[in-house]
Amino acid sequence: MLKAREALGIGAGASPGRGALALVPTMGALHEGHRSLIRLARERAAHVAVSIFVNPLQFGPTEDFSRYPRTFDADLEVCEAEGVSVVFAPSAEDMYLPDRQVGVSAGGMGSVVEGEFRPGHLDGVLTVVLKLFNLVQPDVAVFGQKDAQQLAVIRRMVADLNLPVSIVGGPTVREPDGLALSSRNRYLSSEDRVTALALSRALTAGAGRHAPAEIRRAALAVLEAEPSLALDYLVLVDPATFTEVGDDHTGEAILAVAARVGSTRLIDNVTLGVG
Ligand code: PAJ
Repeated sequence: MLKAREALGIGAGASPGRGALALVPTMGALHEGHRSLIRLARERAAHVAVSIFVNPLQFGPTEDFSRYPRTFDADLEVCEAEGVSVVFAPSAEDMYLPDRQVGVSAGGMGSVVEGEFRPGHLDGVLTVVLKLFNLVQPDVAVFGQKDAQQLAVIRRMVADLNLPVSIVGGPTVREPDGLALSSRNRYLSSEDRVTALALSRALTAGAGRHAPAEIRRAALAVLEAEPSLALDYLVLVDPATFTEVGDDHTGEAILAVAARVGSTRLIDNVTLGVG
């Protein structure tokens, strides 16, 4: 990758507010959400690198690593159409030594909310993201607000470990009916697809209220009206720490939801002004 950086003539000379190289890390199966991040990256840097790597470290033993969609040829076409300079698509053997010992811990932020349902997931995300930063050496890295806790722990890692990269968050891209785009949406049957709409509907219901208790109640009412949806969590949290906000909280908060629809687990969130 450093060779690629040299071959592209990418120097250190990032001008203020704009970098020489931006990285958009992905697991492939690229959709409009990923494309929006690539476009944002192009605004922030002269060159854009996209990584495509289904990271085994961030999947639990019973999760969907082996059936995660892999659409490499179509992904390359998307990258080309979006003006991406470099696609970095390592194999698992390239990325991880067989006797790998050291990784990154998300600390307490890795065991709350998503971390409670996916133990070790955020540690696996941070470990691969730090490796990608070291391999690609971007000035800017772009992540989606769709995975709000992932974005928050990445920002925390950059601050705690003094990483020389600017993190940019991109807004969630949705279908016209509100469903947040996700590589996992392709698993949904047409019935599941209707049920899945309850997530964004619940967030919209919550966003119409002001007090924390009201926000939670309005969103929960929508989710409870959907019997074929299995709720993992609905939380109203501080955007930086992902701890639940108290009833007297004022300012920004994130209303985040995770639920299983059929055999597919979906997450979504919205940022709200509380109080
Ligand atoms: P993946 O799920 O492929 O997502 C890659 C990036 O696209 C993430 O930053 C994610 O938040 C963003 N994204 C997904 N759906 C989006 C949507 N509807 N709108 C806007 N952005 C969206 O997230 C991962 O991969 C991995 O955990 C990774 C960071 C690559 C580490 O392995």
